[in-house]
Amino acid sequence: MTRRAVITGVGHYLPERVVENAEFEASLETTDEWIRSRSGIERRHFAAEGETTSVLATNAAKAALADAGIKADDIDAIVLATSTSDLTFPSAATMVQAALGMTRGFAFDVQAVCAGFVYALSNANALILSGQANRVLVIGAETFSRIMDWTDRSTCVLFGDGAGAVVLEAQEGAGSTEDRGILSTDLNSDGRYKDLLYVDGGVSTQNTGFLRMQGNQVFRHAVEKLASTANTALGKANLTAADVDWIVPHQANIRIIQGTAKKMGLSMDKVVVTVQDHGNTSAASIPLALSVGKQRGQIKQGDLIVAEAIGGGLAWGAVVLRW
Ligand code: UT7
Repeated sequence: MTRRAVITGVGHYLPERVVENAEFEASLETTDEWIRSRSGIERRHFAAEGETTSVLATNAAKAALADAGIKADDIDAIVLATSTSDLTFPSAATMVQAALGMTRGFAFDVQAVCAGFVYALSNANALILSGQANRVLVIGAETFSRIMDWTDRSTCVLFGDGAGAVVLEAQEGAGSTEDRGILSTDLNSDGRYKDLLYVDGGVSTQNTGFLRMQGNQVFRHAVEKLASTANTALGKANLTAADVDWIVPHQANIRIIQGTAKKMGLSMDKVVVTVQDHGNTSAASIPLALSVGKQRGQIKQGDLIVAEAIGGGLAWGAVVLRW
């Protein structure tokens, strides 16, 4: 028998306020047509004043716990991926722990920007495989609207706020590729590319800062590195792209999503796409897409899924799992 970390619940939360592309036309030299054709984004959600990352995360966590049919105290750990935590410390994860009324276990944040959820899932998988936890709540939650430079049309039209969560639970598998649960992970980073996507402030520099991105440079790395990490992760699980039911990619740009699928030899009807409705929600985008994909009836039990993401660092990676 082989111990596996299986997703037994999923949920998401989006702030109420929806901002259509056309709203930016009033304050910026941009058009709905440009945003749509260059990124695939049509609208995004923005958090209300006072609606912080841990608030979004808590709502998504409650939905995932309800879907799994368990209570907060059944959880051994919370791993929360975010680059937009409420406070410098404590972690947003401990705030979620308190908000859920969870009095045991442990909670911490993971920061790998847009690759955050893939990193968090991989860490949570390791906690389960090593026997340190049996049930882990893995959350991706962001309020990127708080780090936008609203005068920079090349970035502020691309990002949105939201949160998604999964419950990961230890189960015994047969040790085959037919097992439910995480079958392989592949993580990478290369800090030489730190200037391609970063926030020009932080605790040690004494200001919050704004997101800065050389979009076309990131784009160039994205398709290549995403297809490569997805194929590497599949190879580690003794699987190939032909075995994949669903690619659940980080939702940054429809052209990156299409390019990656093409490079992997997969058609777009094997890809869960939510970028049009959410924009780029960084670490929240994959769990949001998993939750929406399940709601739409796309993702079903037994499906082989590859989640892949790239972001600031650069940091990138993929997780292969059977739903
Ligand atoms: O999630 C983390 C990873 N991030 C990403 O994956 C983002 C990757 N990058 C992208 O998605 C794309 O590069 C963008 C959507 C950011 C930009 O698309 P692009 O096709 O790479 O355009 P570009 O940056 O080469 O810019 C083309 C033109 C420029 O004008 P010039 O220099 O050709 O005159 C920009 O100034 O488009 C202009 N532009 C805009 N025009 C209207 C940039 N932003 C806008 C805008 N509206 N909002």
